[in-house]
Amino acid sequence: MEQTLSIIKPDAVAKGVIGKILDRFESNGLRIAAMKKVQLSRKDAQEFYAVHKERPFFNDLVDFMISGPVVVSVLEGENAVAKNRELMGATNPKEAEPGTIRADFAENIDANAVHGSDSLENAKKEIAFFFSQREIS
Ligand code: CMP
Repeated sequence: MEQTLSIIKPDAVAKGVIGKILDRFESNGLRIAAMKKVQLSRKDAQEFYAVHKERPFFNDLVDFMISGPVVVSVLEGENAVAKNRELMGATNPKEAEPGTIRADFAENIDANAVHGSDSLENAKKEIAFFFSQREIS
């Protein structure tokens, strides 16, 4: 069993598709082990995405991630990291396979509906960033 971190980003929350996205996870063998709705501060977003701080899109990414509330969850299941990435589709929705979350709900590479951890190692760090052990069950 693996755990991974999912963020439903401000665009998808504003569109009212939280439930539809959570259904994709639950219908595909990913159990929601923890969940909360959060308004990130600029410092939160800068810290969470620190790995991208030298990239040209960093400031736009931070601005976008604090533009409204997000829903963060811990997803648990067999191969949860890869399974979640498969369900999300490519980072750029224009390249995402039909039927994936980003193909169905995202507008562009900035407003791309969801984030998912890209490795088990990062999943552990990202889960610890948002959740204490007692919030996960
Ligand atoms: P996410 O999986 O949340 O990780 C970093 C985010 O940066 C990514 O999704 C995109 O929303 C955003 N981003 C914007 N431009 C790019 C780019 N050129 N390459 C990768 N990510 C980008």
